[in-house]
Amino acid sequence: MSQFMFVSDLDHTLVGDDSALLDLNSRLQQHRQEYGTKIVYATGRSPLLYRELQQEKNLLQPDALVLSVGTEIYLDDSNIPDSQWSEILSPGWNRELVVNTATKFLELKPQPTSEQRPFKVSFFLEAEQSEKILPELETELQKCGLNIKLIYSSGIDLDIVPRSSDKGQAVQFLRQKWKFVAEKTIVCGDSGNDIALFAAGVERGIIVGNARPELLQWHNENPADYRYLAQNYCAGGILEGLQHFGFLE
Ligand code: GLC
Ligand code: MG
Repeated sequence: MSQFMFVSDLDHTLVGDDSALLDLNSRLQQHRQEYGTKIVYATGRSPLLYRELQQEKNLLQPDALVLSVGTEIYLDDSNIPDSQWSEILSPGWNRELVVNTATKFLELKPQPTSEQRPFKVSFFLEAEQSEKILPELETELQKCGLNIKLIYSSGIDLDIVPRSSDKGQAVQFLRQKWKFVAEKTIVCGDSGNDIALFAAGVERGIIVGNARPELLQWHNENPADYRYLAQNYCAGGILEGLQHFGFLE
């Protein structure tokens, strides 16, 4: 056994099966103590919603937090987002212009204020309308010269973020900072905003058994032997995958 970098989405990936989570947490905690394994959460949640879940589920203290779909990185329990990362996201980003352009689309319903972040503008968009609206919205935003990316998850959540940002880019940033090779990095997810985790490089990947259709479809179109589709759900699927790759016994 040796140290590795563990990266996981929270909702419906790490969190969702309480007893499997207890088991996974105790093994990860022990691995961190013995080998210096790093634990990273990568979630779409804002700091506010992250703290709520952290308390509710008694999550382990992570070594780094990737919040707001990769637009904010917090290191060593800091309350201030990493400024190096914010600088990478700034060029070509104009929040006000994004909001003004997107609000012309009446199908887009704004998410709560807590989920509107400096580098993330979020809406609810019904799945039936998404196929028509997403390309139109992207064209409109590009016409304004905005350097953005649309991330659509779970048939409802739409995030508009800088092009240089997503969970996957944020993990590459951390991996390089901590000097972990892709072979010693494991990323876990269940939905659309996790595709970037799996697509950014050749990190070992675990797709939990309860994954959403958008992620499964992407996985089927982009198969790779360094990615494992688990049978078990949530933390149970993560445990299964960690054993498959030999990260845990
Ligand atoms: C979380 C966030 C939300 C985001 C979604 C998908 O639910 O709270 O703002 O749209 O993740 O990334
Ligand atoms: Mg999820």
